[in-house]
Amino acid sequence: MAESVPASGPRSGQVSGEDAGDRHEGERLQKVLARVGVGSRRTCEDLIAAGRITVDGQVAVLGRRVDPETALIEVDGAPIGVRPGLVHYLLNKPAGVVTTADDPQGRPTVVGLVPAEPRVFPVGRLDADTEGLLLLTNDGELTHRLTHPSYGVEKEYVAEVRGAPTRAVLRQLREGVELEDGPTAPARAALLDPSVVRLTIHEGRNRQVRRMCEAVGHPVLRLVRTRIGPIADRSLAPGSWRSLTTDEVRALAAAVATDPTAPPVA
Ligand code: URA
Repeated sequence: MAESVPASGPRSGQVSGEDAGDRHEGERLQKVLARVGVGSRRTCEDLIAAGRITVDGQVAVLGRRVDPETALIEVDGAPIGVRPGLVHYLLNKPAGVVTTADDPQGRPTVVGLVPAEPRVFPVGRLDADTEGLLLLTNDGELTHRLTHPSYGVEKEYVAEVRGAPTRAVLRQLREGVELEDGPTAPARAALLDPSVVRLTIHEGRNRQVRRMCEAVGHPVLRLVRTRIGPIADRSLAPGSWRSLTTDEVRALAAAVATDPTAPPVA
C-alpha cells in the first residue's frame, strides 16, 4: 500500500515502469515474498513455480501480481506476515489520558502507554475524557487512510447521556444533526439502556459524538469508543494494549483498500 499511494501529498507524479504497473495491478508476488523474508526473489520464483505458494487459497503461477495488504498469501499452507518493521497496537484508552505524543501540560499521553520503540503515533484522536479503543502505529499509509474522511471508516461509540432519548431523538441522530460546522452525515443510533446510546458514525469531526448528543438535548456524561471499522475487543482492560493480529491488520487494510470518492485511474 505504501508503494501505491503516498501517505500525504499529491497522488500524481513520475513513476518507473514497474511501479506504474504495480500501481495498477498490484505487486509481483515474488517481490512481496522476498520483502517479508521468504527468500531471494529467485528462490521465491522457484517456490511459485513449484506450486508451493497460494494466494487467497489458490495455487499461484509465475507472473501473478497481488495487493500485499489484502491478499492472503501462504507458503506451504503457512500465511506470510504483514510488512516488516510495521507495528499496530490497539489501546484501551482510559479517561484523563491525552491523544498526543507530547503534552505541554504534562498530562499522561497515549504514546506513553505503549512501547517507546519503534515510535508510533495515534490514528486520529479521542478527547481526553473519552475512553475506549485507539489504534497506534508507525504505518503512515494506513493512518492516512483510516483518518481520511473519504474512506469513511465506521467508528462505534457507546454514550451515557443525561436524560432518556426518545425514538424521535434517535431518528434525529440517524438522519443528521445540524452542528456549527454543518450537518452530520447519516449515522446509526440505538438505545442500549434508557440513558445509553450506541452511535455509529463514519465522519471524524472534532468532538462529534458529544456535539451531536448535546444538539439533541442529551449531553454526554461518559463516552467510550467500542469499535474502529472491523476492530473491536471487549476484553482489553482500560490502560492495556495489544498488537493487532495479522488478520486484523488485513481486515483494516481491506476496509480502506479503495477510496470511494477518488476519480478512476486513467
Ligand atoms: N466524538 C467525541 O465527541 N469525542 C471523541 O473523543 C470521539 C468522538
